[in-house]
Amino acid sequence: MMINKRLISTVSESKKYVAGNVAFQWVGLASNITMMASITKLLSDVFENNISTKSVGSALAATVIALVVRFICAIGASRMGYLSSKEVKMKLREMIYSKLLRIGAAYNEKVQTSEVIQVAVEGVDQLETYFGAYLPQFFYAMLAPVTLFVVMSFISLPCAVVLLICVPLIPVTIVAIQRWAKKLLSKYWGQYTALGDSFLENLQGLTTLKIYKSDKFKNEQMNEQAEKFRKITMKVLTMQLNSITIMDLIAYAGAALGIIISVSQFRSGSISLWGCLLIILLSADFFIPMRQLGSFFHIAMNGMAASDKIFRLIDLDEAKEPEAAADIKGKDIAIDGLTFSYTEDREILHGINLCFPENSFTAIVGESGCGKSTIASILMGRNKSYGGSVTVGSVQISDIAEKEIMKNITYIGHNSYLFKGTVRDNLLMGRPSASDDELWAVLRKVKLADFIRSEKGLDTVLNEKGSNLSGGQCQRLALARAILHDSPIYIFDEATSNIDVESENDIMELVHALAKTKTVILISHRLANVKQADNIYVLEKGNVAESGSHDELVKNENAYYKLWSAQQELENYTGKEER
Ligand SMILES: Nc1ncnc2c1ncn2[C@@H]1O[C@H](COP(=O)(O)OP(=O)(O)OP(=O)(O)O)[C@@H](O)[C@H]1O
Ligand SMILES: [Mg+2]
Repeated sequence: MMINKRLISTVSESKKYVAGNVAFQWVGLASNITMMASITKLLSDVFENNISTKSVGSALAATVIALVVRFICAIGASRMGYLSSKEVKMKLREMIYSKLLRIGAAYNEKVQTSEVIQVAVEGVDQLETYFGAYLPQFFYAMLAPVTLFVVMSFISLPCAVVLLICVPLIPVTIVAIQRWAKKLLSKYWGQYTALGDSFLENLQGLTTLKIYKSDKFKNEQMNEQAEKFRKITMKVLTMQLNSITIMDLIAYAGAALGIIISVSQFRSGSISLWGCLLIILLSADFFIPMRQLGSFFHIAMNGMAASDKIFRLIDLDEAKEPEAAADIKGKDIAIDGLTFSYTEDREILHGINLCFPENSFTAIVGESGCGKSTIASILMGRNKSYGGSVTVGSVQISDIAEKEIMKNITYIGHNSYLFKGTVRDNLLMGRPSASDDELWAVLRKVKLADFIRSEKGLDTVLNEKGSNLSGGQCQRLALARAILHDSPIYIFDEATSNIDVESENDIMELVHALAKTKTVILISHRLANVKQADNIYVLEKGNVAESGSHDELVKNENAYYKLWSAQQELENYTGKEER
């Protein structure tokens, strides 16, 4: 209960450092006892008036040596603590990171990003004390009283027995407190992550909040949350202080008891003055390690609460990584009776059939919210819990390794992620082996070459998310990276929404060119863009309403026709305005 076995076996490399730490502390204790013994011997000699230069000299020498040894041991113990916490942090962060990689693109289905960050950064830091201080102290706190008992039993057995019996009272109170401390702490952590979540969200959306004058409301909301957090923090602190007081009381009372017994034994003449003095000085040492353990214990509890969160993350099921590296190249994509729900109570896709033959150009259109992007993310392996069948060739997409999917399908959304770094860095992600000439060629293709040249060329530095480029420029650069990736399948999901008409036309031109040699799936709300597609699926509320080429669909005068004529009217209208 006071030791988390799983945590220790997870980082079993740290065992040797913990053992080293205990050994150093134990040697430190031994030298402390030696020092006390020589000092008390000297004192009793002074008192009994049989002092000589020789005895003073040897007492002094023993004291100095003991001090030096203790100093070295203290350094050694803290060095061991440092080494073990380093090991632990590295190991756990690595585990969390590789776990996330294994869960892969679908991780958001299971855990929130902010929780991952908090657990990986703060949570792991909390374990530093657990391994560096608590765990060694746990063993040392058992070893030290036993050692002192043995030493003291030579002087006075009753004293030694009484003191040894009192020591376990401290862990007993710790365990009693732990029962409700554990609940309190897990509540504390819950509120801590909740506060972190809303802080991050509100910070990222600050401009929006200001525009809608909701910042005040959100501010109040956060103040409320912060107040709750403050209260629970105070509760935790109170609990810790109270339990420390209780432990202190036990320690002092125990030591006092030992001292009283030794003094009365001295008075009755059954122990010497030296023995009595030594017991007085060593009584407290019986309790100090346990008392120290108690104060580390609260920090360690924090660490254990954090470790629960870490293990929750590590225990998330991961779809077993498919073994067969299915070859996606040169295969048709077929969707049969596909159903999907994000939440149990609402089905988004109601058993649809779609087909994307190799090297064909297929479009998906439909009202906002009808499920287009959902199809795209199922194809990308981001949503794995679908019903029905989604195959590439004859292999289920859920049986294809994520790596393989990512290599073969390139997804371009409406806000593609550009990373902080140079233009070159961002482009090379698409194809690490590309030469500068190739990079320039593709930049020319997306008509970004002139702009990039007028900046610092391929070394132009981008901010996070490419925030120092315009929306159109970002999208062109993302497209350039996608073209470099040179995968057999491309999915464009509103890749040209919220950018200027000129960029839109340029990008569409490239999409159409790409469609001649690749399998292209184009999701677009602008029907003019999908006119050239070999096949168009019209989605309505999670069902396929109709499909066919543009001409066929217009002739049918159905759902597509209605959308088309509405858009035509709108475009003619705005066209007239412009003229
Ligand atoms: N992560 C999610 N969790 C729960 N529901 C979701 C999630 N993402 C989408 N939905 C719901 O699924 C439905 C389909 O969403 P989807 O993003 O596929 O629509 P879309 O056709 O791409 O729309 P748009 O044209 O606006 O991009 C929507 O009604 C939406 O409310
Ligand atoms: Mg969408």
